[in-house]
Formats: sequence, C-alpha cells, structure tokens
Amino acid sequence: MSSADIDWKTLGFDYIKTDLRYISHWKDGDWDEGQLTEDNKLHISEGSTALHYGQQCFEGLKAYRCKDGSINLFRPDQNAARMRRSCARLLMPAVSTEKFIDACKQVVRANEKFIPPYGTGGALYLRPFLIGVGDNIGVHSAPEFIFSVFATPVGAYFKGGMKPTNFIVSDYDRAAPNGTGAAKVGGNYAASLLPGLDAKNREFGDCIYLDPETHTKIEEVGSANFFAITEEGHFITPKSPSILPSITKYSLLELAKERLGLEVEEGDVFIDKLDGYKEAGACGTAAVITPIGGIQNGNDFHVFYSETEVGPVTKRLYEELVGIQYGDREAPAGWIV
Ligand code: COI
Repeated sequence: MSSADIDWKTLGFDYIKTDLRYISHWKDGDWDEGQLTEDNKLHISEGSTALHYGQQCFEGLKAYRCKDGSINLFRPDQNAARMRRSCARLLMPAVSTEKFIDACKQVVRANEKFIPPYGTGGALYLRPFLIGVGDNIGVHSAPEFIFSVFATPVGAYFKGGMKPTNFIVSDYDRAAPNGTGAAKVGGNYAASLLPGLDAKNREFGDCIYLDPETHTKIEEVGSANFFAITEEGHFITPKSPSILPSITKYSLLELAKERLGLEVEEGDVFIDKLDGYKEAGACGTAAVITPIGGIQNGNDFHVFYSETEVGPVTKRLYEELVGIQYGDREAPAGWIV
C-alpha cells in the first residue's frame, strides 16, 4: 500500500508494509553494521531457536509527527535498555543503546511519508526485534542472531481509543511467578492469545490477568499495564516481578507526581477491593491510555468512573503524556529524541 492510499483518520492497529526496514546479523561474537532493505521477509534456518524454543524478544515504540513537522521518538533509550534485559534473560547478545536508536532513526527517516500527520492521533509504530537463528537442534542458545526494526503506521490499539473499555478477569495466567513475565518475549504473548480471544468473543476489550501466585491482585490488562486512581486521589499501579515494565507506566508515575501533584505508589490492587478506586486505565505504547469502564470478575461487574465518560484524572494524564509525545508540552529532560 502506498502512503497516499492510507486513510489516516481510520487507522487501527494493523500491519501496513512500509518501504524499508533495518536488519543486522550477529555471528562469531559481533554484530555487523546493519542495513536498510526493501525485503520484508526473513530467510532463516528451519532450525532457528526463535522458531522452536522461543528464543526471541521485541520492543514497541512510536515516532510522532509534531505540529511544526518535526518527528519525535519517545524515550527510545528506555526501550533499548529493556531489550537488553530481555536479551539477558533469554541468553541472547544484546545491541547497544546507540545501535538501537540509530536503527530506529534510520527506519523512521526511510519511511517518513508513513508517519501519520499531526492531529490525526496516529503514529508510526516501530517494532524492533531480536531472534535466535542459524542451523541448530539442541536446547541451547543459537549460533547466530538477527536484530531488525520495521515500522508500520497505527491508530488506536483498542477499538474505542480514549473511550472507556470493559475488561474481564481471566482464569489463565500470562506468566509464572519466577518466569519471563518481566521480559518482552513472544512466549508471554503467545500464552495470552487464547484468553484474549475468549475475552473479545464476549465483547470485552481484552482480559485482566491476576498475579500468578495468589490470584488476588491485578497484574496486567491484556498486553498493557494497569493503573488506578484511589478514593484519596492517589495514582497506583501494581508492583510484581512478573509484570512487563511498561515505559508508559513509568512515565505516568512521574507525570502524576511531578505535573499533577498526586501521591504515587507501586503497590497491590486487590481484585475484590475495587470499590476503593474511582478511575482506572490500561497504559502502554500501543494502548497509550485506555480508560477502563468496568471489570467483569466472575458474576460481579465493577464500574470505575463510568462506562461512557472518561474520568478527570485519566483525562489530565492523557493530555500530559500525549502533549509531550507530539511536542505540544515541554518534555522532562531526555524524554524526546
Ligand atoms: C506495545 O505497547 O508496544 C506492545 O508491545 C503491546 C502489544 C502490541 C504487543
């Protein structure tokens, strides 16, 4: 599809092939220089560990078109650092922050015409990934690796965008207590496909995952993090070693404290004590901030602020975050590249 054929206003979260992607190969202890290529297919060994043993990880970040035409990347150094942690967990050679950001910049520049115009609410989603490849059969780390970054223009992740969405508590776990929940690895997302489909078939946006140890506390919202505003007006987000540490969530923790003057906390959000919260939301690069209308837990349905209106604190957080991303508000030092 050419960029001229894209209706920016109705963009969802779907793959649209863009012109060029970056690819770099690791062999004998080193990454090569890397290059842009038109080919969006990978040619890898049938024995690749990424295919059999899930030895792979990925990232997600966005390039935003600002009012003056310039382009912002939001905290790419944080994605680079998280990818290094994922690589360490899965015994893969990481790439430096410099190489990671350089690859992202090359891909954004090469696909500039695919960045949605300012004011449409869309962005160019970047998907860096790192996979184990090469001829292999044993359960051990791969002999070769590929690091690649591709881009695709996106709009809202959840259908309603910045509209309240309902979620349902899943009986499944997305990660184990001492497993790979905190690493951004495909296995966690493969495990979420069936519960996610069950939720969508029942008209929910996605599922709420409880902590895998006690099943009493909220951990995540589908592939996004969870936050809530307490009755006292505090910003709270769950703390657990099996949650994927969302860069958006840590940004909101800072913005809630520094810009909204709220008390902030990483702590427990018990699923049977939701009356203590007046607003709730899902947050992440893809989800941005998606207000949570209500949560279905067994036969109970708990509504936070409203199933149709966005709560005032959620709204202010959204304006602050998105304002920074699109260059309309001053960013904390180092957040925009
Ligand atoms: C993101 O928010 O970037 C994600 O990784 C979520 C999902 C699309 C996998």
